Amino acid sequence: MGERWQAVDDYIADKLLGADDALAAALANNEKQGLPPIDVSAAQGKMLHLLARIAGARRILEIGTLGGYSTIWLARALPDDGRLVTLELEAHHARVARENLERAGVSDKVDIRIGSAADSLAAMATGEPFDFVFIDADKQSNAHYVAEAIRLGRSGTTIIVDNVVREGGVLEADSDDDRIVGTRALFDMLSADPRLDATAVQTVGAKKWDGFVLARVR
Ligand code: SAH
Ligand code: DHB
Ligand code: MG
Repeated sequence: MGERWQAVDDYIADKLLGADDALAAALANNEKQGLPPIDVSAAQGKMLHLLARIAGARRILEIGTLGGYSTIWLARALPDDGRLVTLELEAHHARVARENLERAGVSDKVDIRIGSAADSLAAMATGEPFDFVFIDADKQSNAHYVAEAIRLGRSGTTIIVDNVVREGGVLEADSDDDRIVGTRALFDMLSADPRLDATAVQTVGAKKWDGFVLARVR
């Protein structure tokens, strides 16, 4: 089925997304510079963009920048005075992202912070709250990242977490894969935390069978 999922994603992108030089250049630059091809798909990128606009987001937090492909989609959702903070462990990824964001004309809105996201988050004081948070880094830390998103958010903040299904791997209760253990810890947290309303949606497409969590801070 994988080929057909990809073909439908191509159809959706062709019908609804159109050609986009900056995004295509970002993916080409990522590949040239050796980044892994684990960006969100085009259809998912546009979904993030639309959700941020629907939320009226002025302040966006992203955890896991890679080459900034999802960052570009999200930054384009911001109003002129909007800001996006994106957290990335790898200096090389951040360098490539900076190039891609500059080419896309959104780098003036984006602050890339290099280092472990847990450290960068710990250094962030609550100030003007984030309206929208996209979590897409090391899956082991997802429950912690959601807790930090709540701390740095407000009532109504939208939280999205990528890669929470992993081809059904989420069902493996005795997995020794840290990413699965982390994903299950995320679901445990979401099911118990009274500060959130949450769901998860399974997806198929260019990223095979996976899914995302959608949550709103109460
Ligand atoms: N959101 C990107 C894809 C992110 S891939 C997109 O869709 O375009 C995951 C990224 O998280 C990688 O670049 C990886 O280096 C980064 N990462 C992994 N562990 C991290 C950590 N502890 N802190 C911050 N970033 C981390
Ligand atoms: C992986 C990470 C991602 O964020 C993703 O969307 C797909 C795959 C990975 O680490 O394999
Ligand atoms: Mg992802």
